[in-house]
Amino acid sequence: MAIKSLGYIGINSAQLPQWQEFACQVMGLEDVSTRLNADDDTLFFKMDDHPYRFIVNKSDEDKLGFCGWETNSEQGLQDVADALAAAGIPFEWGSEQDAAARSVSKLLRFADPSGTQHEAFYGVISDFKRMNSPVGVERFITGDQGLGHVVIPAPNFDATSSFFTDVLGFGLSDLMKIKFTDDPNEPEKRLWFMHCNTRHHSLALFEMPMPTGCVHLMVEVPSVDEVGLCNDRRIAANVKLTGTLGRHANDHMVSFYMRSPSGFDIEYGAEGRTVDDWDNYPVFHSTVASFWGHDFSVGHQD
Ligand SMILES: [Fe+2]
Repeated sequence: MAIKSLGYIGINSAQLPQWQEFACQVMGLEDVSTRLNADDDTLFFKMDDHPYRFIVNKSDEDKLGFCGWETNSEQGLQDVADALAAAGIPFEWGSEQDAAARSVSKLLRFADPSGTQHEAFYGVISDFKRMNSPVGVERFITGDQGLGHVVIPAPNFDATSSFFTDVLGFGLSDLMKIKFTDDPNEPEKRLWFMHCNTRHHSLALFEMPMPTGCVHLMVEVPSVDEVGLCNDRRIAANVKLTGTLGRHANDHMVSFYMRSPSGFDIEYGAEGRTVDDWDNYPVFHSTVASFWGHDFSVGHQD
């Protein structure tokens, strides 16, 4: 497939100071807005040797802005364009200024059938400076696995899931069906996990509308100790816990969840599994989210 990883994430927010504090002092990302000559309405946060991985744009709403998907080459990006055209999905090429603003060589934009905005790009422009975390996070697990994973709403589920698998070439990793009550009349909502590299999932689709445009975004650190240190910083910064520590049954991630300034959750984890040979990987249907932990009821408490 032409798409290789989740390359960057764009967030629209009315809370730029809160994002600066949260991203740097809790998540441990480096604010590189000045280095990238950002205007007063834009924040860039760095995780690794990419110039940045998060862009926060000032807005009057708080919502996921876009997912940026990395391809390996100009031909890879053209393959994405050709696949979109063949499927009749509208897209537009970004201008040279658009590409420069993203620190990439070329990009295109499209929306998925549930309305989430996406970009595909190639040719990250990087000076390979190392991340200098303001709170001493050694590094994040990125590289070929991309920046982490994103879970987005897909109320138009059948069209959206087949768009990602049949048009963009994602593979299905596993699936869940979720109910929030014991009411037999409550329809099950599908939650499908998809891969585009060795990370168990880079994308998940949830069959529900979400006003924030995002269910959660996951970043991974090299050790459970780094996860615990982030949780200590979360407590010190008075950031709301939305899911207790636990280990997921599908990607084996040991993680907790916290509320970002934009209202969706950030999952902060370690020990996520990778899959080298997807041809010999059996898709499974999980009936539980986690082996242990991950009490999400805390997110609904005041
Ligand atoms: Fe997750």
